[in-house]
Amino acid sequence: MARPSTHAAPKAVGRRQSILDSPQDRPAARSDSAPAGPAQESRQKRVVRNGTATNDLVFSAYVDGNEAMLPRILDLYVAPGSTVADVTYGKGVFWRNVQGELYNLLATDLQTGVDCRELPYDDGVIDCVVFDPPYMHTPGGTAHATQQPFERYYRNNDTGNRTKAKYHEAVLALYEDGGKEAYRVLRPRGVMIVKCQDEVCSNRQRFTHVEIIEAYQELGFVAEDLFVVVRNNRPGVSRAVRQVHARKNHSYFLVFWKRDRPSALWTAPE
Ligand SMILES: C[S@@+](CC[C@H](N)C(=O)[O-])C[C@H]1O[C@@H](n2cnc3c(N)ncnc32)[C@H](O)[C@@H]1O
Repeated sequence: MARPSTHAAPKAVGRRQSILDSPQDRPAARSDSAPAGPAQESRQKRVVRNGTATNDLVFSAYVDGNEAMLPRILDLYVAPGSTVADVTYGKGVFWRNVQGELYNLLATDLQTGVDCRELPYDDGVIDCVVFDPPYMHTPGGTAHATQQPFERYYRNNDTGNRTKAKYHEAVLALYEDGGKEAYRVLRPRGVMIVKCQDEVCSNRQRFTHVEIIEAYQELGFVAEDLFVVVRNNRPGVSRAVRQVHARKNHSYFLVFWKRDRPSALWTAPE
């Protein structure tokens, strides 16, 4: 049975813009003089995702907002009807373009009293976890003023960051502890979608996405996909006298799944 796409109305999503769409992934160019017949149309509709034939390929990189990314990733990796725990729901921006009825969404956040390191779910009951903790520390000054600094969420809250780690190590500790807890609540082959961004910390380049992939593989996750999101607004302005590293204007969505047996491969959801 054909299922609806997880995408909301195109108007809300906006124009999709891939920065890495390879020529072979593009639909065949249509000649103006030869209108498409049924044969040509059926050739073009060759991708089946979540039960729906579509030409709408999901690409690995977009110039877009976060709210346009989650529908694409869910569409590719999570079957409609799944139970999805967004454990750092925040303002729910990620969900703005996901049709509400498609998933059983469990939305929690530290601000609503649920710590992602101590989730109120039994072992192995969740199909997908979405995780977007604060992903950089604040060095002071204006460099990260428009982003989501780690300290803002832990200042004046009761739980604290529960670690003696500081700065980038504290950011990583939360990713690791949240990953462990997600692993516990996910069913075998359950999917974990993680948002992160690299950072330069104390003049040292930290490829956070690589560190997370390494740590999660140790936990028993398989790193299955990586999406690059390039900001569609201007990155913050630095007052640095001399620029040392490239100013980051991209972030990542990583997709993991909970390995059920050593040599298992990922298959698209039914
Ligand atoms: C970058 S924001 C998430 C934004 C969210 N994805 C959205 O679409 O609005 C980070 C969130 O992580 C939450 N947070 C920080 N530490 C947490 C913890 N230990 N457990 C659960 N949530 C936490 C913050 O309260 C904040 O809402």
